[in-house]
Amino acid sequence: RKKAPNAEDIRARKGGQPLVSLTAYTTPMAQVMDPHCDFVLVGDSVGMVLHGLTSTLGVTMEMMILHGQAVARGLNGAMMVIDMPFASYEEGPAQAFRNAARLMAETGAGAVKLEGGVEMAETIRFLTKRGIPVMAHIGLTPQSINTLGGYKVQGRDAQADAVLADAHAVSDAGAFSVVLEKVPQVLADQITAEMAIPTIGIGASAGCDGQILVVDDMLGFFTAFKPKFVKRYADLGAQADSAIAQYAAEVRDRSFPAAKHVFADTVPAKGNT
Ligand code: KIV
Ligand code: NA
Repeated sequence: RKKAPNAEDIRARKGGQPLVSLTAYTTPMAQVMDPHCDFVLVGDSVGMVLHGLTSTLGVTMEMMILHGQAVARGLNGAMMVIDMPFASYEEGPAQAFRNAARLMAETGAGAVKLEGGVEMAETIRFLTKRGIPVMAHIGLTPQSINTLGGYKVQGRDAQADAVLADAHAVSDAGAFSVVLEKVPQVLADQITAEMAIPTIGIGASAGCDGQILVVDDMLGFFTAFKPKFVKRYADLGAQADSAIAQYAAEVRDRSFPAAKHVFADTVPAKGNT
């Protein structure tokens, strides 16, 4: 089994074979993707995907740590990156360091990811200078949904310069890679061309240095909504529905459990001589 890459290995993949990544929140899903992924993200999307929250704002450090520990048990060859949840880093570099260090120490993650560009550059520099590799996340940043006003494409037309400035700021601050979420393809390609660090696209461009998707989205498990950028590679939600419907029918007509699912017993011996 190959040794899991670290943040510097990921950085060195700039311009090479595209980096493959998915989110994971549990041990079995991490085990399934581990042989196929370069890195796995314990995303704060866990709040919406597994906990039924309507945004990522309610995700806590405790949730991230619990899911991070579960994912770590399922990984062998892929690197683990973990999201810093809303309100765990925005106050400033000291708060960010304290919580990033805790996430890494308690889960074994090799890096943290945080949302923000120019406004987070100082924090990214503080963390990276003190031993914490940071993956940045710019473009659509779901933790800022209340100020962005919706999950819309970021960096169109006059907004492009702001996203480009964010990319340069996080790269200059020492981020080892940057997620570009929901930005126009031409802008993603320009950022990828200008940056010395790998760009990881989600709703961005096939020209990015890597791609990431939310695993429950691409497997068809999370169906509350489907962003345009999601490709469904499977329809596991529909398969689960029909499996459970069949189980319900068989319980009701007593065809489950069948003979092979129950335990035979020896008939108690009668009148021992
Ligand atoms: O939380 C998440 O799943 C993410 C990815 C979509 C990049 O941040
Ligand atoms: Na996230």
